[in-house]
Amino acid sequence: KKPVHIVWDADAAEKGGYEHFMLKEMYEQPKAIADTFSPRIKDGQIVIEELGMNDEEIRAVSKIVIVACGSAYHAGMTGKYVLEGMARIPVEVDLASEFRYRDPILAEGTLVIVVSQSGETADSLAALREAKKKGCKVLGIVNVVGSSIAREADKVMYTWAGPEISVATTKAYSAQLAAFYLLALRFAEAKKSISAEEYQELTDSLLKLPQQIEEILKDRGCIQRFANRYLAAEHIFFIGRGIDYAISLEGSLKLKEISYIHSEAYAAGELKHGTISLIEDGTLVVALATQEQLYPKMVSNIAEVKTRGAFVMALTNENNKDMEQTADYVIKVPKTNRFFANSLAIIPLQLFAYYVSLGR
Ligand code: M6R
Repeated sequence: KKPVHIVWDADAAEKGGYEHFMLKEMYEQPKAIADTFSPRIKDGQIVIEELGMNDEEIRAVSKIVIVACGSAYHAGMTGKYVLEGMARIPVEVDLASEFRYRDPILAEGTLVIVVSQSGETADSLAALREAKKKGCKVLGIVNVVGSSIAREADKVMYTWAGPEISVATTKAYSAQLAAFYLLALRFAEAKKSISAEEYQELTDSLLKLPQQIEEILKDRGCIQRFANRYLAAEHIFFIGRGIDYAISLEGSLKLKEISYIHSEAYAAGELKHGTISLIEDGTLVVALATQEQLYPKMVSNIAEVKTRGAFVMALTNENNKDMEQTADYVIKVPKTNRFFANSLAIIPLQLFAYYVSLGR
Protein backbone atom coordinates (compact mmCIF):
# COMPACT_ATOMS: atom_id res chain seq x y z
CA LYS A 1 0.00 0.00 0.00
CA LYS A 2 1.15 3.50 -0.80
CA PRO A 3 0.76 5.91 2.15
CA VAL A 4 -1.26 9.06 1.39
CA HIS A 5 -1.04 12.21 3.47
CA ILE A 6 -4.43 13.74 4.28
CA VAL A 7 -4.13 17.44 5.08
CA TRP A 8 -7.05 17.63 7.55
CA ASP A 9 -5.81 18.38 11.04
CA ALA A 10 -7.11 16.82 14.25
CA ASP A 11 -8.40 20.18 15.62
CA ALA A 12 -10.89 20.28 12.80
CA ALA A 13 -12.65 17.32 14.40
CA GLU A 14 -12.97 19.06 17.83
CA LYS A 15 -15.80 21.37 18.83
CA GLY A 16 -13.34 24.14 19.65
CA GLY A 17 -15.57 25.86 22.22
CA TYR A 18 -18.76 25.76 20.15
CA GLU A 19 -21.85 24.18 21.66
CA HIS A 20 -22.42 21.90 18.69
CA PHE A 21 -20.48 20.81 15.63
CA MET A 22 -23.25 22.22 13.44
CA LEU A 23 -22.71 25.72 14.85
CA LYS A 24 -18.96 25.42 14.51
CA GLU A 25 -19.27 24.23 10.93
CA MET A 26 -21.63 27.07 10.04
CA TYR A 27 -18.91 29.43 11.23
CA GLU A 28 -16.35 27.60 9.12
CA GLN A 29 -18.24 28.35 5.91
CA PRO A 30 -16.25 31.44 4.86
CA LYS A 31 -13.06 29.37 5.11
CA ALA A 32 -14.57 26.34 3.37
CA ILE A 33 -15.58 28.50 0.44
CA ALA A 34 -12.30 30.42 0.34
CA ASP A 35 -10.35 27.14 0.43
CA THR A 36 -12.45 25.74 -2.41
CA PHE A 37 -11.82 28.88 -4.49
CA SER A 38 -8.20 29.66 -3.73
CA PRO A 39 -6.39 26.85 -5.59
CA ARG A 40 -8.63 27.46 -8.61
CA ILE A 41 -8.69 31.23 -9.00
CA LYS A 42 -5.33 32.48 -10.20
CA ASP A 43 -4.87 36.13 -11.19
CA GLY A 44 -8.57 36.51 -11.80
CA GLN A 45 -8.73 33.36 -13.98
CA ILE A 46 -10.60 30.16 -13.12
CA VAL A 47 -8.26 27.20 -13.55
CA ILE A 48 -9.64 23.75 -12.73
CA GLU A 49 -6.72 21.50 -13.53
CA GLU A 50 -8.32 18.38 -12.11
CA LEU A 51 -11.13 18.69 -14.66
CA GLY A 52 -8.57 17.65 -17.26
CA MET A 53 -10.53 19.30 -20.07
CA ASN A 54 -9.39 21.95 -22.50
CA ASP A 55 -11.72 24.50 -24.15
CA GLU A 56 -12.45 22.22 -27.08
CA GLU A 57 -13.36 19.28 -24.81
CA ILE A 58 -15.60 21.51 -22.74
CA ARG A 59 -17.35 22.73 -25.88
CA ALA A 60 -17.94 19.11 -26.89
CA VAL A 61 -20.08 18.52 -23.77
CA SER A 62 -23.65 18.63 -25.05
CA LYS A 63 -25.43 17.99 -21.76
CA ILE A 64 -24.71 17.71 -18.05
CA VAL A 65 -26.54 15.35 -15.70
CA ILE A 66 -26.07 16.05 -11.99
CA VAL A 67 -26.80 13.16 -9.64
CA ALA A 68 -26.85 13.31 -5.83
CA CYS A 69 -28.92 12.84 -2.67
CA GLY A 70 -30.36 15.21 -0.06
CA SER A 71 -28.50 18.48 0.40
CA ALA A 72 -25.99 17.53 -2.28
CA TYR A 73 -28.97 17.21 -4.65
CA HIS A 74 -30.08 20.70 -3.62
CA ALA A 75 -26.59 22.01 -4.36
CA GLY A 76 -26.97 20.30 -7.76
CA MET A 77 -30.23 22.18 -8.33
CA THR A 78 -28.43 25.46 -7.80
CA GLY A 79 -25.72 24.08 -10.09
CA LYS A 80 -28.32 23.59 -12.82
CA TYR A 81 -29.50 27.20 -12.67
CA VAL A 82 -25.94 28.49 -12.61
CA LEU A 83 -24.54 26.25 -15.37
CA GLU A 84 -27.50 26.82 -17.64
CA GLY A 85 -27.58 30.54 -16.91
CA MET A 86 -23.89 31.22 -17.41
CA ALA A 87 -22.69 28.50 -19.78
CA ARG A 88 -25.97 27.95 -21.71
CA ILE A 89 -25.63 24.20 -21.49
CA PRO A 90 -28.64 21.95 -20.77
CA VAL A 91 -28.50 20.43 -17.30
CA GLU A 92 -30.66 17.74 -15.71
CA VAL A 93 -30.60 17.08 -11.97
CA ASP A 94 -31.53 13.65 -10.74
CA LEU A 95 -31.91 12.01 -7.36
CA ALA A 96 -29.34 9.22 -7.24
CA SER A 97 -31.92 6.83 -5.76
CA GLU A 98 -34.10 7.33 -8.86
CA PHE A 99 -31.38 7.55 -11.46
CA ARG A 100 -29.93 4.16 -10.70
CA TYR A 101 -33.24 2.35 -11.20
CA ARG A 102 -34.64 4.08 -14.28
CA ASP A 103 -32.25 2.99 -17.00
CA PRO A 104 -31.37 6.62 -17.83
CA ILE A 105 -30.80 7.65 -21.44
CA LEU A 106 -27.32 9.10 -21.60
CA ALA A 107 -26.33 10.25 -25.07
CA GLU A 108 -22.76 10.69 -26.21
CA GLY A 109 -21.32 13.98 -25.04
CA THR A 110 -23.09 13.83 -21.67
CA LEU A 111 -21.00 14.70 -18.64
CA VAL A 112 -22.31 13.19 -15.41
CA ILE A 113 -21.50 15.02 -12.18
CA VAL A 114 -21.91 13.10 -8.92
CA VAL A 115 -22.00 15.32 -5.83
CA SER A 116 -21.31 13.94 -2.36
CA GLN A 117 -19.83 15.16 0.89
CA SER A 118 -18.89 11.73 2.21
CA GLY A 119 -18.15 10.15 -1.16
CA GLU A 120 -19.72 6.97 0.24
CA THR A 121 -23.49 7.39 -0.25
CA ALA A 122 -24.62 4.07 -1.70
CA ASP A 123 -27.18 5.47 -4.18
CA SER A 124 -24.74 8.10 -5.47
CA LEU A 125 -22.02 5.51 -5.88
CA ALA A 126 -24.39 3.19 -7.74
CA ALA A 127 -25.45 6.08 -9.99
CA LEU A 128 -21.79 6.76 -10.76
CA ARG A 129 -21.29 3.12 -11.75
CA GLU A 130 -24.44 3.19 -13.90
CA ALA A 131 -23.20 6.30 -15.74
CA LYS A 132 -19.79 4.76 -16.33
CA LYS A 133 -21.38 1.55 -17.56
CA LYS A 134 -23.24 3.61 -20.14
CA GLY A 135 -19.98 5.13 -21.34
CA CYS A 136 -20.24 8.59 -19.76
CA LYS A 137 -17.41 10.54 -18.30
CA VAL A 138 -18.03 11.11 -14.58
CA LEU A 139 -16.84 14.06 -12.56
CA GLY A 140 -17.12 13.74 -8.78
CA ILE A 141 -17.58 16.80 -6.57
CA VAL A 142 -16.53 15.24 -3.29
CA ASN A 143 -15.36 16.38 0.14
CA VAL A 144 -13.75 13.28 1.60
CA VAL A 145 -10.37 12.64 0.04
CA GLY A 146 -9.88 9.08 -1.18
CA SER A 147 -13.53 8.09 -0.64
CA SER A 148 -15.22 5.56 -2.97
CA ILE A 149 -16.81 8.17 -5.25
CA ALA A 150 -13.53 10.07 -5.45
CA ARG A 151 -11.70 6.90 -6.40
CA GLU A 152 -14.19 5.65 -8.96
CA ALA A 153 -14.99 8.91 -10.77
CA ASP A 154 -12.96 9.68 -13.90
CA LYS A 155 -12.09 13.09 -12.48
CA VAL A 156 -12.60 14.53 -9.03
CA MET A 157 -12.97 18.10 -7.94
CA TYR A 158 -12.56 18.26 -4.19
CA THR A 159 -14.49 20.68 -2.02
CA TRP A 160 -12.05 21.78 0.63
CA ALA A 161 -14.51 22.05 3.52
CA GLY A 162 -12.51 19.87 5.91
CA PRO A 163 -14.12 17.13 8.00
CA GLU A 164 -17.84 17.63 8.51
CA ILE A 165 -18.91 16.00 11.76
CA SER A 166 -22.47 17.31 11.98
CA VAL A 167 -24.91 15.08 10.12
CA ALA A 168 -26.82 18.22 9.14
CA THR A 169 -24.54 19.52 6.44
CA THR A 170 -23.68 23.20 6.25
CA LYS A 171 -20.10 23.91 5.21
CA ALA A 172 -19.83 20.99 2.78
CA TYR A 173 -23.05 22.15 1.10
CA SER A 174 -21.67 25.70 0.81
CA ALA A 175 -18.44 24.36 -0.65
CA GLN A 176 -20.45 22.34 -3.20
CA LEU A 177 -22.16 25.56 -4.31
CA ALA A 178 -18.71 27.14 -4.63
CA ALA A 179 -17.53 24.24 -6.82
CA PHE A 180 -20.52 24.69 -9.13
CA TYR A 181 -19.83 28.42 -9.49
CA LEU A 182 -16.26 27.65 -10.54
CA LEU A 183 -17.38 25.02 -13.04
CA ALA A 184 -20.06 27.28 -14.50
CA LEU A 185 -17.58 30.11 -14.98
CA ARG A 186 -15.00 27.80 -16.53
CA PHE A 187 -17.59 26.36 -18.93
CA ALA A 188 -18.91 29.83 -19.75
CA GLU A 189 -15.41 31.02 -20.55
CA ALA A 190 -14.69 28.04 -22.84
CA LYS A 191 -18.04 28.41 -24.59
CA LYS A 192 -17.73 32.21 -24.76
CA SER A 193 -21.25 32.51 -23.47
CA ILE A 194 -20.35 35.49 -21.28
CA SER A 195 -18.29 38.57 -22.11
CA ALA A 196 -14.85 39.29 -20.64
CA GLU A 197 -16.42 42.02 -18.48
CA GLU A 198 -19.07 39.65 -17.12
CA TYR A 199 -16.39 37.05 -16.40
CA GLN A 200 -14.39 39.63 -14.48
CA GLU A 201 -17.43 40.88 -12.58
CA LEU A 202 -18.52 37.35 -11.67
CA THR A 203 -15.05 36.34 -10.50
CA ASP A 204 -14.82 39.49 -8.34
CA SER A 205 -18.22 38.71 -6.81
CA LEU A 206 -17.09 35.16 -6.02
CA LEU A 207 -14.11 36.39 -4.09
CA LYS A 208 -16.30 38.63 -1.94
CA LEU A 209 -18.55 35.78 -0.78
CA PRO A 210 -16.50 34.62 2.26
CA GLN A 211 -16.44 38.13 3.72
CA GLN A 212 -20.15 38.64 3.05
CA ILE A 213 -20.96 35.35 4.80
CA GLU A 214 -18.95 36.48 7.80
CA GLU A 215 -21.04 39.64 7.99
CA ILE A 216 -24.26 37.60 8.05
CA LEU A 217 -22.92 35.25 10.72
CA LYS A 218 -22.05 38.23 12.95
CA ASP A 219 -25.69 39.25 12.94
CA ARG A 220 -27.00 35.94 14.25
CA GLY A 221 -28.75 37.51 17.29
CA CYS A 222 -31.72 38.78 15.28
CA ILE A 223 -32.27 35.35 13.73
CA GLN A 224 -32.07 33.68 17.14
CA ARG A 225 -34.69 36.07 18.53
CA PHE A 226 -36.95 35.44 15.56
CA ALA A 227 -36.44 31.65 15.80
CA ASN A 228 -37.47 31.73 19.48
CA ARG A 229 -40.93 32.91 18.43
CA TYR A 230 -41.48 29.73 16.42
CA LEU A 231 -40.53 26.97 18.81
CA ALA A 232 -44.10 25.67 18.93
CA ALA A 233 -44.74 25.83 15.19
CA GLU A 234 -46.23 22.71 13.63
CA HIS A 235 -45.77 23.56 9.97
CA ILE A 236 -43.42 25.96 8.25
CA PHE A 237 -43.41 26.61 4.50
CA PHE A 238 -40.59 27.91 2.34
CA ILE A 239 -41.28 29.50 -1.03
CA GLY A 240 -39.05 30.87 -3.77
CA ARG A 241 -38.69 31.12 -7.53
CA GLY A 242 -35.81 30.12 -9.78
CA ILE A 243 -32.59 29.78 -7.87
CA ASP A 244 -34.46 30.82 -4.72
CA TYR A 245 -36.55 27.67 -5.07
CA ALA A 246 -33.38 25.57 -4.79
CA ILE A 247 -32.46 27.34 -1.57
CA SER A 248 -36.00 26.98 -0.22
CA LEU A 249 -35.62 23.20 -0.54
CA GLU A 250 -32.37 23.23 1.42
CA GLY A 251 -33.71 25.64 4.09
CA SER A 252 -36.74 23.43 4.59
CA LEU A 253 -34.68 20.23 4.76
CA LYS A 254 -32.34 21.74 7.33
CA LEU A 255 -35.24 22.83 9.51
CA LYS A 256 -37.19 19.57 9.48
CA GLU A 257 -34.06 17.44 9.81
CA ILE A 258 -33.04 18.90 13.14
CA SER A 259 -36.13 20.55 14.65
CA TYR A 260 -38.66 17.81 13.73
CA ILE A 261 -41.11 20.49 12.63
CA HIS A 262 -43.01 19.58 9.49
CA SER A 263 -41.85 21.79 6.68
CA GLU A 264 -42.27 21.96 2.92
CA ALA A 265 -40.63 23.96 0.22
CA TYR A 266 -42.59 25.08 -2.80
CA ALA A 267 -41.81 26.84 -6.03
CA ALA A 268 -43.75 30.01 -5.24
CA GLY A 269 -45.79 29.91 -8.44
CA GLU A 270 -46.88 26.34 -7.73
CA LEU A 271 -48.32 27.01 -4.29
CA LYS A 272 -51.74 27.95 -5.58
CA HIS A 273 -52.15 24.56 -7.24
CA GLY A 274 -53.32 22.92 -4.04
CA THR A 275 -50.86 23.46 -1.23
CA ILE A 276 -51.99 26.98 -0.36
CA SER A 277 -55.00 25.41 1.36
CA LEU A 278 -52.64 24.25 4.13
CA ILE A 279 -51.77 27.82 5.04
CA GLU A 280 -53.83 29.04 7.95
CA ASP A 281 -53.89 31.95 10.35
CA GLY A 282 -50.40 32.45 11.73
CA THR A 283 -48.61 29.79 9.63
CA LEU A 284 -45.04 30.89 9.11
CA VAL A 285 -44.05 31.21 5.45
CA VAL A 286 -40.41 31.93 4.70
CA ALA A 287 -40.28 33.73 1.36
CA LEU A 288 -37.01 33.93 -0.56
CA ALA A 289 -36.76 36.97 -2.83
CA THR A 290 -33.16 37.55 -3.85
CA GLN A 291 -33.71 37.58 -7.61
CA GLU A 292 -34.33 41.04 -9.08
CA GLN A 293 -36.19 39.84 -12.19
CA LEU A 294 -38.54 37.67 -10.10
CA TYR A 295 -39.04 40.17 -7.29
CA PRO A 296 -42.49 41.50 -8.39
CA LYS A 297 -43.69 37.91 -8.82
CA MET A 298 -42.55 37.05 -5.29
CA VAL A 299 -44.27 40.14 -3.91
CA SER A 300 -47.56 38.88 -5.35
CA ASN A 301 -46.96 35.35 -4.01
CA ILE A 302 -46.38 36.86 -0.56
CA ALA A 303 -49.65 38.78 -0.88
CA GLU A 304 -51.41 35.51 -1.79
CA VAL A 305 -50.28 33.67 1.34
CA LYS A 306 -50.99 36.69 3.51
CA THR A 307 -54.62 36.71 2.41
CA ARG A 308 -54.79 33.23 3.96
CA GLY A 309 -53.41 34.59 7.23
CA ALA A 310 -49.76 33.57 6.88
CA PHE A 311 -47.06 35.35 8.82
CA VAL A 312 -44.36 36.02 6.23
CA MET A 313 -40.67 36.23 6.95
CA ALA A 314 -39.00 37.46 3.76
CA LEU A 315 -35.35 37.05 2.96
CA THR A 316 -34.07 39.50 0.40
CA ASN A 317 -31.12 41.71 -0.63
CA GLU A 318 -30.26 44.83 1.29
CA ASN A 319 -31.15 47.04 -1.69
CA ASN A 320 -34.80 45.94 -1.72
CA LYS A 321 -36.08 48.71 0.50
CA ASP A 322 -39.79 48.14 0.04
CA MET A 323 -40.09 44.54 1.26
CA GLU A 324 -41.13 45.80 4.71
CA GLN A 325 -44.39 46.97 3.14
CA THR A 326 -45.22 43.45 1.97
CA ALA A 327 -43.77 40.97 4.48
CA ASP A 328 -44.24 40.88 8.27
CA TYR A 329 -40.58 40.40 9.08
CA VAL A 330 -37.61 40.99 6.79
CA ILE A 331 -34.09 39.61 6.88
CA LYS A 332 -31.60 41.20 4.52
CA VAL A 333 -28.41 39.75 3.12
CA PRO A 334 -25.72 41.68 1.24
CA LYS A 335 -26.06 42.09 -2.51
CA THR A 336 -24.12 39.74 -4.75
CA ASN A 337 -24.43 38.61 -8.34
CA ARG A 338 -27.80 36.90 -8.84
CA PHE A 339 -26.11 33.56 -9.59
CA PHE A 340 -24.42 33.48 -6.19
CA ALA A 341 -27.34 34.62 -4.03
CA ASN A 342 -27.88 31.11 -2.61
CA SER A 343 -24.55 31.20 -0.82
CA LEU A 344 -25.69 34.18 1.24
CA ALA A 345 -29.36 33.29 1.64
CA ILE A 346 -28.62 29.86 3.08
CA ILE A 347 -26.79 31.28 6.12
CA PRO A 348 -29.85 32.83 7.89
CA LEU A 349 -31.84 29.69 7.03
CA GLN A 350 -29.23 27.41 8.64
CA LEU A 351 -29.12 29.67 11.72
CA PHE A 352 -32.91 29.68 11.88
CA ALA A 353 -33.03 25.86 11.77
CA TYR A 354 -30.31 25.62 14.39
CA TYR A 355 -31.87 28.07 16.85
CA VAL A 356 -35.41 26.68 16.50
CA SER A 357 -33.99 23.22 17.25
CA LEU A 358 -31.90 24.48 20.15
CA GLY A 359 -34.92 26.24 21.63
CA ARG A 360 -37.10 23.17 21.31
O1 M6R B 1 -22.48 12.40 1.85
P1 M6R B 1 -23.50 12.83 0.86
O2 M6R B 1 -23.32 14.26 0.44
O3 M6R B 1 -23.55 11.93 -0.36
O4 M6R B 1 -24.88 12.69 1.57
C1 M6R B 1 -26.08 12.94 0.89
C2 M6R B 1 -27.19 13.27 1.86
O5 M6R B 1 -27.44 12.19 2.71
C3 M6R B 1 -26.85 14.49 2.70
O6 M6R B 1 -26.61 15.60 1.89
C4 M6R B 1 -27.99 14.82 3.68
O7 M6R B 1 -29.14 15.19 2.99
C5 M6R B 1 -27.52 15.93 4.61
N1 M6R B 1 -26.59 15.41 5.57
C6 M6R B 1 -28.65 16.62 5.28
O8 M6R B 1 -28.21 17.68 6.08
